[in-house]
Amino acid sequence: MTASRAAAFAPINIALVKYWGKRDAALNLPVAPSLSVALQELGSLTIVQPDAQLDRDIVVVDDRPLDPAGLVRAERVLAAVRRRAGATGHAGVRSVNTVPMARGLASSASGMAALAVAAARAYGLDLSPAELSALARLGSGSAARSVPGGFALWHAGSAPDGSDSVAECLHPAEHWPLRVLVAHVGGRKAVSSTAGMASTAASAPMFEAWTATCRADVATARNAIAARDFGALADVVECNALRMHATMLWGRPPLLYWQPATVAVIHAVRQLRHEGTECCFTIDAGASVVILATAQDVRAVAEVLGEIAGIDEVIETRVGPGARVVESGA
Ligand code: PMV
Repeated sequence: MTASRAAAFAPINIALVKYWGKRDAALNLPVAPSLSVALQELGSLTIVQPDAQLDRDIVVVDDRPLDPAGLVRAERVLAAVRRRAGATGHAGVRSVNTVPMARGLASSASGMAALAVAAARAYGLDLSPAELSALARLGSGSAARSVPGGFALWHAGSAPDGSDSVAECLHPAEHWPLRVLVAHVGGRKAVSSTAGMASTAASAPMFEAWTATCRADVATARNAIAARDFGALADVVECNALRMHATMLWGRPPLLYWQPATVAVIHAVRQLRHEGTECCFTIDAGASVVILATAQDVRAVAEVLGEIAGIDEVIETRVGPGARVVESGA
C-alpha cells in the first residue's frame, strides 16, 4: 500500500489515578497502572502527509515548529510506524490543539495519540486499539490513555518491550456522563513531567508507597466507576492526586506545582462536597485544577469557581470518546 495523507483527532485525558514514575524511560513504561477519562472535543487534530521529497520529519503545532524535545518524541512515533509498515522517507505533520497549549491542560498526550493514529493510517497500517495505544505511548506516556475513549485503564504491563503496557476502554463515555471543569491557574513554568518523574523516583523516600497506592487506587476507582458511586470515586481521586503531590514534595529537589489559587480551589471543592454537592478535584504537574462533577451539580461548582481569585479561565466539558481517523487517502 502506498503512503497517503491522513488526519486524526485525539482527546486530552485527565488521570483520576495518576502516572508518576517510569520503569523504562525510552519506552515510557510506567511503574504502576493509571486510570483516566477522555475529554469531549478538547484535544488535537493532526494531519500526517508522507512526503518523499523531505529529508527529515517536519512537525508544526499551532502554526509553530515543535520544540526540539517534542520533535524527538514525535519522531519516535513516526519511526515506529514506518518500521512496522516497511516504509522509508519522512513526513510533514501539522497539528492544531482545540485548547491553546498553555491553558492548564497538557496537550502532548492528545497530540501524540492523534499523531500515532494518523500516521498508522497514512502508512497503511491496520492496527488494533491496543497497538495504537502502545505507539502513542512512545511519544508521551499518558498519550497511551488518549487512544481509548471514556474511562480508560493503562496497564503497567511487565513485558520488557512494552507490548502489554497499553490502555483499554473500561466503559464508554455514555456509561456515566460526568462533567469536567478545568480551572486554569497560571504560574511559573512547571518542571516537565519527564524530569519531575525521574527526580521523584530517584530521591523520594516514599516512592515505593506511592506506586503501591496507585495499584490499590486503580482497583478502587474501577469499582466506583462501574457502580457509578460518586462518593467513592471522589474519595480515591482526591487521595491519589494529593499523594502524588506529597511524593513530589518529598523528592530532591522538592516539586511544588501549586499556586495560591490551586489551594483555594481544593478548599472550595472540599467544602462543596461536605455540603452535599457531587464534585471532586484532581491536579496534574501544574497549578491548574480539574474538577469532576455530576450533571446536576456542575452549575453550582462553576459558580463557586467564578468567585475564586487567581483562576484565569474555567473550561467546561464532559467525558467523551477516544481517538479517531477523521480523513484518509487524500
Ligand atoms: O505523559 P506525561 O509525560 O505528560 O506525564 C503525565 C503526568 C501527569 O499528568 C502528572 C499524570 C498523568 O497520569 O497524566
